Amino acid sequence: MQLLRKTLLPADAPRALLITGGSSGIGRAAALLFAALGDRVTVTGRRADRLEALRREAEERELPGMILPVVADVTDAEAMRRAVALALAEFNRLDVLVANAGIGHRGPLVEAEWADIETVLRTNIDGVIHSVRAAVPAMRASGGGHIVLVSSVLGPLPGPYVSVYSASKAAADALGRALRGELRADHIHVSVLWVGQTHTEFAERRLGQPGRVARRWPPMTPEQVAGGIARALERKPRTMTLRWRDSALLWAGRHFPALAERLLARIYG
Ligand SMILES: NC(=O)c1ccc[n+]([C@@H]2O[C@H](COP(=O)([O-])OP(=O)(O)OC[C@H]3O[C@@H](n4cnc5c(N)ncnc54)[C@H](OP(=O)(O)O)[C@@H]3O)[C@@H](O)[C@H]2O)c1
Repeated sequence: MQLLRKTLLPADAPRALLITGGSSGIGRAAALLFAALGDRVTVTGRRADRLEALRREAEERELPGMILPVVADVTDAEAMRRAVALALAEFNRLDVLVANAGIGHRGPLVEAEWADIETVLRTNIDGVIHSVRAAVPAMRASGGGHIVLVSSVLGPLPGPYVSVYSASKAAADALGRALRGELRADHIHVSVLWVGQTHTEFAERRLGQPGRVARRWPPMTPEQVAGGIARALERKPRTMTLRWRDSALLWAGRHFPALAERLLARIYG
């Protein structure tokens, strides 16, 4: 039955995606990319005006796909279940979850506000769990799918003054890597994307010390990262980095941890 359902979706058929955190940055760029590829994209976030503007932009550019904006907070399990129900009502299936919504934090752990720490953990960990738990039943009913977790190089390689954010991304990484085995029988792939610094609203909206960007580490564009998400859907990797300098940093972290620690202190210090 599973196999039969799978064959009902030809290779070039439009996919139905759910992208969390699509009101700005990487999620927004990914929504536009997939709409340009002809896919049907449900996009969530808390800012209704931004989501509506995204839908209008896709319409005005006459992109072949569709964008369905849904206001939903990833920290609210019921809201995420509602978002998936709306996506199913509109597109009848769910093939891809891009768990992208996230927020940063920068600053020394001991001096950080607990409310900020809690927001980061609830958004970046609970948010991924609620998104996955809402999406998987719909993917099972669609015969399979693919979950892409938008993580960070700071997950596998935690840095000084970004400890809370690094810990949140490491937790999401562990979830993703464990789920890969757990969901294999359902034909649901799971890929963790270790994204490096990207030019979005992320730094300005970061809690703790907003506004500062990592020195000596050129940012990617959100469109480049969106392209990486598209490649991950094709290649189905367990984990993936998007450029050589991020891969080199992770390699250094594995083989020369003291050197990588000093390098990170220079980049984030
Ligand atoms: N930019 C970077 O340098 C960088 C590097 C590595 C990894 N990443 C990761 O990439 C992802 C996207 O970040 P970005 O760079 O595109 O930043 P961004 O422009 O600030 O976008 C973050 C998105 O997450 C959404 N979001 C935040 N909290 C939410 C909540 N509680 N419920 C629902 N949506 C929420 C925001 O929408 P609303 O505010 O409208 O809810 C927004 O659409 C994040 O997971 C981030 O950790 C970013």
